[in-house]
Amino acid sequence: MALREVRKEGDPVLRKECRPLKEMNDRTRQLIDDMFDTMYEAQGVGLAAPQVGILKQIVVIDVGMEEPEPLVLINPEILEMNGECTDYEGCLSVPGYQGQVSRAEQVKVRALDPEMKEFELTADGLLARCIQHETDHLHGVLYIDKVIGELEQPAADEEAAEE
Ligand code: NI
Repeated sequence: MALREVRKEGDPVLRKECRPLKEMNDRTRQLIDDMFDTMYEAQGVGLAAPQVGILKQIVVIDVGMEEPEPLVLINPEILEMNGECTDYEGCLSVPGYQGQVSRAEQVKVRALDPEMKEFELTADGLLARCIQHETDHLHGVLYIDKVIGELEQPAADEEAAEE
């Protein structure tokens, strides 16, 4: 198990555009393993490569569903957004805070899996929210840019899922 340092808000790496991944190799497989380890250790439900300082379009997600998770999205592209849902979210790069963000209720995403095979996935609820949050990270966007009202400092037992 290898943990990577999670970059915090204010670190310029979180504001950069990530490059698409062109090919899979051992180094990138290790990165994905480390991203899962780091996410689970922090009790997060999603993590994007720029959060560990790597400007590549790679996301790992596990919101606690059985299928299709744990999920790796490489070069994700959101094809469709339907409905609207406002809920709290948090981010491992903005520890101790949460805020309400309006997201699409359902998304259809196209991405590559770790074998670089293209797939499409339709998701709703927390998984849809997480996919949108993580895809934003790949383009230098944090949820705090979209928060409705004020950021809040919740009690430990009231924390929103952190992504
Ligand atoms: Ni985040």
